[in-house]
Amino acid sequence: MTDKVPYLDLPAQIKGIRKDLDAAIARSLDNCSFCLGPDVAQFEKDFAQFCGASHALGFNSGTSALHVALRLLNVGPGDEVITTPYTFIATSWAISYCGATPVYVDIEDTTFNLDPKLLERAITPGTKAVLPVHLYGQPFDVDPISEICRKHKLPLVEDAAQAVGAKYKGKTVGALGDISCFSFYPAKNLGACGEGGALVTNNPAFAARAKSLREHGSAVRYQHDEVGYNYRLEGIQGAVLGVKLKHLAKWNAERRRVAKRYNELLAGTPLQLPREAAYAESAWHLYTVRHPRRDEFKKFLDDHGIGNAVHYPIPLHLQKVYAQLGYKPGDFPVAEKASREVLSLPMFPELTDAQILRVVEVIKEFFKKS
Ligand SMILES: Cc1ncc(COP(=O)(O)O)c(C=O)c1O
Repeated sequence: MTDKVPYLDLPAQIKGIRKDLDAAIARSLDNCSFCLGPDVAQFEKDFAQFCGASHALGFNSGTSALHVALRLLNVGPGDEVITTPYTFIATSWAISYCGATPVYVDIEDTTFNLDPKLLERAITPGTKAVLPVHLYGQPFDVDPISEICRKHKLPLVEDAAQAVGAKYKGKTVGALGDISCFSFYPAKNLGACGEGGALVTNNPAFAARAKSLREHGSAVRYQHDEVGYNYRLEGIQGAVLGVKLKHLAKWNAERRRVAKRYNELLAGTPLQLPREAAYAESAWHLYTVRHPRRDEFKKFLDDHGIGNAVHYPIPLHLQKVYAQLGYKPGDFPVAEKASREVLSLPMFPELTDAQILRVVEVIKEFFKKS
């Protein structure tokens, strides 16, 4: 065994399903439906069923699915959308693309997700929607957030980019709000061989308009009723995702095995370990630990060949691109502290016990030395 452990091992995943992928891609080449087409249609049907929703639409990224989700809610200039400052930037892009303003609410210390207790005070007459994220694969606390949305007649959009297959109180993430958006970026739990995303909803009017918006605002060819986009999922990606979806439950179970093993082996170290909320079954997209001396800890892992990553080093309210919003350090202390302390360890379904033991060995060495 080499002493190096990668952060992610996509070649191992592809190797395991290579024959099926080759056959699916060959079929796609034969039918020449490169933009949407039968493989995408079949995947959309299967993915809607997987999420327990009536409609799933393939997009060319999670970002474009989020953008269209907010267009469906007629979010525009002057509107506010409440969201989390502790996520990948794309969550906020969707708001900015609509010309609206992101309004951030701090996160819970335990789950890293938008804190339901802080939501209501951020609502103003300009609020048009609420957009929390199921971060690292762990669902946000849907019930209290939905209740506040219902009370204020605000739609709830789930950014489920990192949480495909996660469960909230036994229900699969994807049909818990008004619209859910997924990313099939290659490193995600369900990844395309390229870019991809999906918009999922139970609302047939949303589904019909989203279909048109992803195809140049055109429900009937060459008739354009509103400004649309070229956000179509490629046919080949539909074929790939159809193959991979069949493995997702098994892969997520393997991620759960890895998380459980890390939890057992790292208990008693000075690291703060990730914990599933009582209501949650995480998709374990990431296994993210915390330590106040994160940068030193990270360097030690780097020096010892242990893959790792920081998700996320700068909360969105402190990003240069959003300087004009006027936020300052200290506005969201929980998110800011997390951004200084978090480190994601190697996490993928094919991670072997020997690799986990090596990661843990290096971590224990760090704490022995320091
Ligand atoms: C939380 C979150 N939202 C949105 C996105 C955007 O997805 P994509 O990269 O497919 O555009 C990502 C992907 O990295 C994400 O992690």
